[in-house]
Amino acid sequence: MSFTSGKSSDVLIIGGGVIGLATARELHKKGVSNITILERGAVGKEASHAAAGMLAPNAETEQADDFFRFCSESNKLYPAFAAELFDETDIDIELDKQGTLYLALTETDSAEIGRRFEWQRGAGIEVEHLSARETRILEPFVSPDVRESLFFPDDCQVENRKLLHALEKYAELNNIQIRENTEIKNLLIENGGIIGAESETEKFFVGKVVLAAGAWTSLIKAENFVMPQILPIRGQMIEFHTAKRLFQRVIYSPRGYLVPRADGRVLAGATVEDAGFDKSVSREGIEYLRENTLEIAPSLVNLEIAEKWAGLRPFAADGLPILGSFPQVENLILATAHYRNGILLAPLTAKILAENIVENKDSDYLKIFSPNRFAPSGLRSLNTAV
Ligand code: FAD
Ligand code: GLY
Repeated sequence: MSFTSGKSSDVLIIGGGVIGLATARELHKKGVSNITILERGAVGKEASHAAAGMLAPNAETEQADDFFRFCSESNKLYPAFAAELFDETDIDIELDKQGTLYLALTETDSAEIGRRFEWQRGAGIEVEHLSARETRILEPFVSPDVRESLFFPDDCQVENRKLLHALEKYAELNNIQIRENTEIKNLLIENGGIIGAESETEKFFVGKVVLAAGAWTSLIKAENFVMPQILPIRGQMIEFHTAKRLFQRVIYSPRGYLVPRADGRVLAGATVEDAGFDKSVSREGIEYLRENTLEIAPSLVNLEIAEKWAGLRPFAADGLPILGSFPQVENLILATAHYRNGILLAPLTAKILAENIVENKDSDYLKIFSPNRFAPSGLRSLNTAV
């Protein structure tokens, strides 16, 4: 079976993670009527499912650069995004705006925190420097060994699995087609323009393709064209269950983080490993996460690990997202490499891509994160490579 369409506004999205789903919704809201998402497995079950759901541009930033600006802008879109999704789907994605705490538990951590506080305050970031006592008043379950902390009131979290359900439900309610168990092997390119994509058994013909295949992007062949390389970077996580919520805020140390959910679950993450496409959890990984958890909150010592999982973050060579038109193939748009921040970056990614596709609007971010940056002299085809 195949479908054909002559309409140039029709869009095929390859990959049903948070980036593909959010982009489909935004395109639909802008009037694109014929959108299909092709998904290798089931939608929303890969990195976007594995994530912790932190929206933490301030706690995670190392410098006030374009990427930080992109993260902060996307974070600001979340209240409206969550409210709209609730109106559209009746699903509450549990946007929690109680902020994040970044703890110093050792002398080295204290030095790091002091440095961060100075430059972040200088850069105009909303941050408070708290003493050990102030930290434990805010979060009594934090270790008595805490020395001090930074509090970032503008950072948030969402229940990313509910976000995925909401986006999937939006698609179902609005006639966005989702084809699961459909793995795209090749993009179909003719006369320098995309005409569709093919799995082992089917061909799909459309006007535009958005490639949002996360960590698997580089496995899809684009004839002779050299696409930016994406590496899978494994993140392992564990989860504890508590009868009531023990922490109000997301809590970081330089070695890991705890994310408290409204229902008493506490997620602890995450490893950062180059392990190919292996999504298994390891004894070492789990032990590392458990040690970090107990360093932050020793009173969790008697809790059993209730769940453990791993996901693959999509990583480009410079660690930044890859967004926008692939210069050598007309109507091929990349939306990948969100690495550690794809949940945070989904609303703004979807917005700038949909505005570009439907209204021809050019965001600065499409220049900054363009696929073109990996080949300054222009991406070459393998035929001409030496
Ligand atoms: P995915 O969710 O992986 O989706 C890609 C989809 O494409 C998959 O469903 C896949 O099956 C499909 N696909 C692949 N190849 C094909 C093909 N050939 N044909 C059809 N379909 C295909 N980000 C945050 O913002 N906050 C966090 O707190 C956070 N925590 C994280 C914790 C962990 C442990 C991990 C692993 C990641 C975390 N991230 C976090 C990062 C975030 O999860 C990712 O950046 C984001 O999920 C990427 O979304 P995606 O849609 O590009 O990828
Ligand atoms: N942003 C959290 C992680 O990637 O582990």
